[in-house]
Amino acid sequence: MMIVAIDGPAAAGKGTLAKRLAAALGLPYLDTGILYRATAKRVLEAGASPADAEAALHAARALTQSDLQRADLRDAATSAAASQVASIPEVRQALLDFQRHFGNSHGAVLDGRDIGTIIFPHADVKLFVTASVEARAERRHKEFLARGETVNLADVIADVQARDEADRTRAAAPLMKAPDAELIDTTGMDADTAFTHALDVIRRKTAKLESKTFSL
Ligand code: DC
Repeated sequence: MMIVAIDGPAAAGKGTLAKRLAAALGLPYLDTGILYRATAKRVLEAGASPADAEAALHAARALTQSDLQRADLRDAATSAAASQVASIPEVRQALLDFQRHFGNSHGAVLDGRDIGTIIFPHADVKLFVTASVEARAERRHKEFLARGETVNLADVIADVQARDEADRTRAAAPLMKAPDAELIDTTGMDADTAFTHALDVIRRKTAKLESKTFSL
């Protein structure tokens, strides 16, 4: 049973990469950002503030499978609110068991911000996927345009920077590279190149794990 932990800032290409790796490795995939987005959506729809710890905890505990399957979790308001609820320690704690249980059931590829540091500190493979702010904002901008939302690039850059700052500087499980995570910078890499490179890293790391087991 293998756990692959993929962390990194917003729009670094984690999701695309993680999904392809999961398919290639025959593992289930969990986008953990969805948990925070769905929590935020519930809070907003209840008319509460995403800074309200009690309301956010209530929403996190009430999440159902259908909340996670909603198609409207990626708009700007939900993204900003997700970043806020993600800074609340009680919310993170409430979502921790779900993530561990998901991974421990059949192994998994999980992507997020604290997978290799907090959720699965003993993951078999840890990747820290990043790219320059400009490259990430351009990708996000293209996603918005593809969905028919008109936003200007300068606003997307400012938004990506603000979310990075919030994710990195929060006290609870801040975004950070685990010391044993492999850094993959996808600036100037297309999705295929990132995938091939990541798969090589995983093969190399798991081969090492196997040879360690043999020599014991
Ligand atoms: O990856 P994403 O953009 O869908 O994440 C949405 C928000 O949730 C983002 O502000 C970071 C936060 N998040 C987190 O704190 N921990 C995770 N494991 C995943 C996401």
